[in-house]
Amino acid sequence: MKIFVIGGTGLVGSYLLPLLVDNGNEVYALTRNESKIEKIKRIGAHGILGDIRNPRSFKDSLPQNLDIIVLLAMPGVKPGHRMTRKRKAELREETNDFFRNSMDLAISYNAPVILPGGTSYHTEKDEIADETWPVLRVGLTEIGRDTDEMIDRAIKTNNPKIIQLIYGKIYGNGGLFRFMYNMMEKGRGKILGKGDNYVPNIHAGDAASAIVKAIDKMPVGEKFIIADDTPATQKDFTIFMAELMNKKRPGKIPGFIVKLILGKDFYEIIRMNCKVSNEKAKRILGWYPNYPSYKEGLKETIQEMKENKNYFS
Ligand SMILES: NC(=O)c1ccc[n+]([C@@H]2O[C@H](COP(=O)([O-])OP(=O)(O)OC[C@H]3O[C@@H](n4cnc5c(N)ncnc54)[C@H](OP(=O)(O)O)[C@@H]3O)[C@@H](O)[C@H]2O)c1
Repeated sequence: MKIFVIGGTGLVGSYLLPLLVDNGNEVYALTRNESKIEKIKRIGAHGILGDIRNPRSFKDSLPQNLDIIVLLAMPGVKPGHRMTRKRKAELREETNDFFRNSMDLAISYNAPVILPGGTSYHTEKDEIADETWPVLRVGLTEIGRDTDEMIDRAIKTNNPKIIQLIYGKIYGNGGLFRFMYNMMEKGRGKILGKGDNYVPNIHAGDAASAIVKAIDKMPVGEKFIIADDTPATQKDFTIFMAELMNKKRPGKIPGFIVKLILGKDFYEIIRMNCKVSNEKAKRILGWYPNYPSYKEGLKETIQEMKENKNYFS
């Protein structure tokens, strides 16, 4: 198959490209960074130089036909920096361009597109969210409001054909997770607020294998929660990571200080409480996480990060 991956050099993308190439696909990966083209080639894929916000910059480098498009690009969120109103508005514009242009490309190629999302659900006590739950757009997740509408429209008209993968917090060797690793390495890992809120997790390799399954089964018009089997609180995850890295137990930063330093938009997502079910992905995609719990996945990840094994960093 001819597959175009937008964001193939990111955290999930760096696990996905080799899987797609090994399965015998002809893979095209977009990057804005010329130095990554050679690295993409080394994996066995074709590097396409350009920016998804300006599809004219790369359209001529793509083949005449594509079988599927995968969107994995993420707008430039700087961890540890205060989220201003202006930056939030820019991120919303950026996200809109990513989705609009990927969907327009899918229409022009008459190819389905796999779109990413996050598990923005709110559950209480023993509640478990599935794909039928309403998405809660609070804080920084509000930047996805317009794309929700774009997706609804596309699903109603079946144009373009869409498959949505709704990820828990993705951890693995690269991307934003490297920030958390570096902070922990410096002994500056922290629990934000009380840390007793549940956050779904997924290893980047498992996020990538879900895409492979979606390409294989092509369940157009459907969405799937991609998270591991083990509910974990923010505190559980952070403390376990510190233990694995032989660091002292991370302290807590009170919620009001997190809000003061990082802004209300970050604070709102940090304290979101959510447990999810991955039953639909298992049943329909035949996808099962290689790391059913963050405990197994983190062990592998910390080792990989120590050895700095990532194609793109
Ligand atoms: N990480 C999470 O916890 C999480 C949770 C839920 C959903 N998601 C979604 O899952 C997807 C994958 O996440 P990730 O963590 O793998 O992302 P990531 O590591 O931050 O990857 C960023 C990727 O986006 C590309 N990119 C950014 N701006 C671009 C632009 N204007 N044009 C072309 N490419 C651009 C980068 O390519 P170059 O720098 O090479 O150009 C890079 O490949 C994203 O869509 C994200 O929103 C992530």
